[in-house]
Amino acid sequence: MRMFGKAGKAAAVAAIAALALTACGRTDSGSSSSTAGGEAFPKDSMIGVALPQKTSENWVLAEKLFNDGLSSAGFKPDVQFANGGVSEQQNQISAMVTKGAKVIIVGAIDGAQLGTQLKQAKDSGATVIAYDRLLLNTENVDYYVAYDNFKVGELQGQALLDGMKAKKPSGPYNIELFAGSPDDANAKVFFDGAMSVLKPKIDDGTLKVVSGQTSFEQAVTQGWKAENAQRRADTLLTGSYGTASLDGVLSPNDTLARAVLTSVKAAGKPLPVVTGQDSEVESVKSIMAGEQYSTINKDTRKLVEHAITMVKDLQAGKELEINDKDSYKNGVKTVPAFLLPPQIVTAENVKTAYVDDPVLGPITK
Ligand code: BGC
Repeated sequence: MRMFGKAGKAAAVAAIAALALTACGRTDSGSSSSTAGGEAFPKDSMIGVALPQKTSENWVLAEKLFNDGLSSAGFKPDVQFANGGVSEQQNQISAMVTKGAKVIIVGAIDGAQLGTQLKQAKDSGATVIAYDRLLLNTENVDYYVAYDNFKVGELQGQALLDGMKAKKPSGPYNIELFAGSPDDANAKVFFDGAMSVLKPKIDDGTLKVVSGQTSFEQAVTQGWKAENAQRRADTLLTGSYGTASLDGVLSPNDTLARAVLTSVKAAGKPLPVVTGQDSEVESVKSIMAGEQYSTINKDTRKLVEHAITMVKDLQAGKELEINDKDSYKNGVKTVPAFLLPPQIVTAENVKTAYVDDPVLGPITK
């Protein structure tokens, strides 16, 4: 069950009303005690936001949006990137705890490597929210806010099929599969979502993975790095596509999609259908130019806005709105999640998809 049922919503509203009537703060997270007026913590508290490396434009956008949005809500934001890697992110989270952050929002580089720091955070009374990427193998994560990752993969898989069919009405189609970084909890979920659509077509012979590399482990791209995807694409083209045509490539995001296209161009092959994700400026332009086939619209503004709504609700001692209680098992617990719906974008809807987007709107007009 992914959507907020009517009964669930009514219960949540009733719970919020009850809290307001009795002016009592939330205590169920076990992390916050109420202050005057039902507030769980003061309005001008420090809020930590630990972001990963700048592996795609969405993270860069998130930095400014968190700084601006938290400041205008009256909080003191402490937003950090960990371009140096996991140990830098561990140190940043510890420092946020020391500085007294009341909520720590984490976009993890490696969701399984922050156990000690998340325990420190919870011991200090902070609430921990996993942002975009789930935090794994820990009790010490309260909530998850993200676009529906499995759905992203399903949309990518379906787009790959649709794009190839539009070029060549029937198969078999030769394809290759790329996945994201194995330390990012999202990467496997994207891949599984895509494979839920593609695997039956591989099994019935409609799709042929010419290299034979069909497992997640074979498809991964360390660090979500373009050069790693490009190198693997070069090797696949040389090793498996001497005379064969390459009809399609499952790419988990836009950075890697452009790397694959660069490799195919260098090999002098006709461009295959290539999927993507993130609505990066260069990829949206590439879609309009008829090169990259698809991307996914996961408006970062909406995701950050919802994360900030969670912070505001926590501050006010309100019940948080959760629309998925079952899907995100982190190895230790099921993390209550708020999931937003991703949207597929191809040349067909590129002009309407971004009408409200301040950067992409003018480009796609
Ligand atoms: C995000 C994607 C992004 C990738 C690389 C993932 O966790 O969900 O949107 O493309 O990280 O930055």
